[in-house]
Amino acid sequence: MMTTNYLIIGSGVAGLTFAIKMADRFPDQKITILTKATADESNTKYAQGGIAIVTNKTEDSYQKHIQDTLICGDGLCNADVVKMVVTEGPKRLKELISWGAKFDKNAKGNFDLGKEGGHSQNRVVHHKDQTGFEIERAILEQVYQKKNISVLDHHFALDLITKNNRCHGAYALDQKTKKIITFQSNHTVLASGGIGHLYGHTTNPTIATGDGIAMASRANAIIKDMEFIQFHPTALYDKSSGSAFLISEAVRGFGAYLRTKNGHRFMLDYDPREELASRDIVSQSIDLELKKSTEQCVYLDCTHLDMKAFMKHFPMIYKRCKSLGIDIAKDWIPVVPAQHYLCGGIVVDKNGRTSIENLFACGECSRTGLHGANRLASNSLLEALVYSDKIYNYLANNAFEKKDLNFTVAAWVTVENTEINSAYIAQMKSELQLLMRQNAGIVRNNNNLLQAKEQLLQWKEELKEKIKNHQVETGLYELQNMISIGYLIVLHSIERTDNRGGFMKV
Ligand code: FAD
Ligand code: SIN
Repeated sequence: MMTTNYLIIGSGVAGLTFAIKMADRFPDQKITILTKATADESNTKYAQGGIAIVTNKTEDSYQKHIQDTLICGDGLCNADVVKMVVTEGPKRLKELISWGAKFDKNAKGNFDLGKEGGHSQNRVVHHKDQTGFEIERAILEQVYQKKNISVLDHHFALDLITKNNRCHGAYALDQKTKKIITFQSNHTVLASGGIGHLYGHTTNPTIATGDGIAMASRANAIIKDMEFIQFHPTALYDKSSGSAFLISEAVRGFGAYLRTKNGHRFMLDYDPREELASRDIVSQSIDLELKKSTEQCVYLDCTHLDMKAFMKHFPMIYKRCKSLGIDIAKDWIPVVPAQHYLCGGIVVDKNGRTSIENLFACGECSRTGLHGANRLASNSLLEALVYSDKIYNYLANNAFEKKDLNFTVAAWVTVENTEINSAYIAQMKSELQLLMRQNAGIVRNNNNLLQAKEQLLQWKEELKEKIKNHQVETGLYELQNMISIGYLIVLHSIERTDNRGGFMKV
């Protein structure tokens, strides 16, 4: 049993920035971060394009950013939340800079602002094409300097501890010792990120298995908008499944064209914003083109661009393509849509509070109302920064919340069980990923969704039995979590009767 004042599950931008602030404000309180891989491994680390923030108030304005976010969310955003998040952007950027994160500037000393789909202005603050890597580096460095933060790598959170709709911490598996630890905490923050590996073909790293949302769902927290899966239009085409390398939308913001194999610039047929239409529209258009042509991919053409400037702005993308024999100056880049982001998740209010007392959520696992039916590019890092700050402020200003460490939580009951066969997990995972790609992809239909629902229900039951009869193991729990998330996606997709943003049912 371990006790802590604040338990944070996840070490991406959401969890780490919350931890830094709490540690500074309450140096006598204990903050524990659980993370299932090494601390830097997260979706955050791979963010390329940047953070959407209004910094150039001459050409841009909060109103324009708000409007772009609302248009992108296709009528389902919470307008108050949009205003709050957009207007707090500059303060959160200042904080990141104060913690040592560096962002590109132009010759005049102003931020070099990128542009992405759905943005009416250049407003994306970035660090080359490795913005997430730079942010994660800077904030992790800060976290390691705080004496009252413990970062526990390779600690996999299994389940929340709740009683009478109140959260008292979580159980976690120490993946190295194989021991299960009971973490009792006054306040628990889920910052556990996305769900990409449910689809297999995804821009997300392998940690993205929806654990936090599944845990919250098991504890009866309200979960919403799971049908709004965002597919990024331009993942590098690779015949194998698994994590796909992203070709940032900022490349299209820099002027790249999308073409079919025979050279047709098809986005001109679909949207007046052309290649810079919002992500849902570009992905759906590519999907249609691929179905028409029966080709495997479309192409991103950068051959007309200033290569020197391109290499300066996108060195990682340039290098990765080169390593695969694609010379961007001469060759088109083969691209295909891939699962990228989850717009829905654990419902939180404007203070990041979930429907369970003392349980908070921020970042990709949460559903704040900012994104509606489709997230505007580069609004995700911003949302995580703003909501981790909201939770911090709420806890800092509500002393009455700091109570209850003497409540007795039940320790995890360990049962002697056999080890699960890893081949079972691998096989089941690939069947699940195939089911999700085929039945809950960019374009869905009720027949496929109903079939998927039946299958997922069956798998849910099967996993309950497996968990009961086998040793606790990360892969088994991840599989259980992914099946639960798949079920929620399918259920919410069946329930939705209108096509909005990233959701299309025919
Ligand atoms: P994450 O950064 O994913 O962190 C989740 C953490 O939770 C990880 O540390 C993980 O190990 C941990 N965890 C999960 N489950 C458990 C468990 N059971 N037990 C213990 N720990 C657990 N957004 C933008 O705004 N701009 C961009 O340019 C951008 N580019 C992107 C590019 C790529 C390739 C990807 C994948 C995403 C991009 N996004 C971008 C989205 C954005 O990066 C993420 O939405 C955001 O970083 C999520 O942050 P987070 O802190 O919520 O989660
Ligand atoms: C990208 O760089 O294309 C990703 C941006 C995002 O997901 O917001």
